[in-house]
Amino acid sequence: MKVIAVASQKGGSGKTTLAGHLAVQADMAGIGPVALVDTDPQGSLSEWWNEREAENPLFARTTIENLKDDIARMSQMGIKLLIVDTPPAITETIATVIGLADLLIIPTRPSPHDLRAVGATVELAEGLGTPLVFVVNGATPRARITSEAAIALSQHGTLAPSVLHQRVDFASSMIDGRTVMELNPASKSSEEITKLWSYIQSRIEKKPMTLAPEISRKADASAQQSAQSVFG
Ligand SMILES: Nc1ncnc2c1ncn2[C@@H]1O[C@H](COP(=O)(O)OP(=O)(O)OP(=O)(O)O)[C@@H](O)[C@H]1O
Ligand SMILES: [Mg+2]
Repeated sequence: MKVIAVASQKGGSGKTTLAGHLAVQADMAGIGPVALVDTDPQGSLSEWWNEREAENPLFARTTIENLKDDIARMSQMGIKLLIVDTPPAITETIATVIGLADLLIIPTRPSPHDLRAVGATVELAEGLGTPLVFVVNGATPRARITSEAAIALSQHGTLAPSVLHQRVDFASSMIDGRTVMELNPASKSSEEITKLWSYIQSRIEKKPMTLAPEISRKADASAQQSAQSVFG
């Protein structure tokens, strides 16, 4: 099971929107079962999920103290992907979640305030050794600030190649427990999420591509051995 954390210190950057949308998209792409965890006391993701009619993705109620054990339990239950939403802060909670994650997604609006706020989250991820990816959210088409934001962010880490634009359906879909893909699969928003998920999926499934084939085969063999020693 892979664990993705969605975090950024800045409020309203799109953490909850992304957590819900990526979980649904991952499930639609067939990599499920997918589960969500909401560690934000505001509970927006839980509220969204409660409004949902569809059963998937699953929703796991846990606490930050139990998260590590519950991750192990979910993995044993056969959950393939867990996405964890977090509060807009830099706290112990966020550090715990990022420390347990295979990948951190940092959504950022292309505004100077948001860009200034990414530093603290990046430092936390770097200190914990968790790979990160920035997602520009709420961009205005053809605005110069978006490309400036992209340049600024790429100096701190990898930027997802798919930008999410400011569109009403992102906000309205979340109100009734759905996603833009469920509202209108042919929409531009839906296409943005589909592209974003395939990029994120390639990131979490990343193999050691830079190694020579024989070395990577050896790495695979030793990984298999250690997997056998864990399970056998
Ligand atoms: N691309 C977008 N287009 C239009 N509205 C958006 C977009 N992304 C997010 N929103 C809206 O902006 C608001 C904030 O988004 P969201 O709740 O996902 O942010 P957040 O980072 O989880 O906020 P918080 O820090 O409070 O937890 C919500 O009303 C959401 O519907
Ligand atoms: Mg939120």
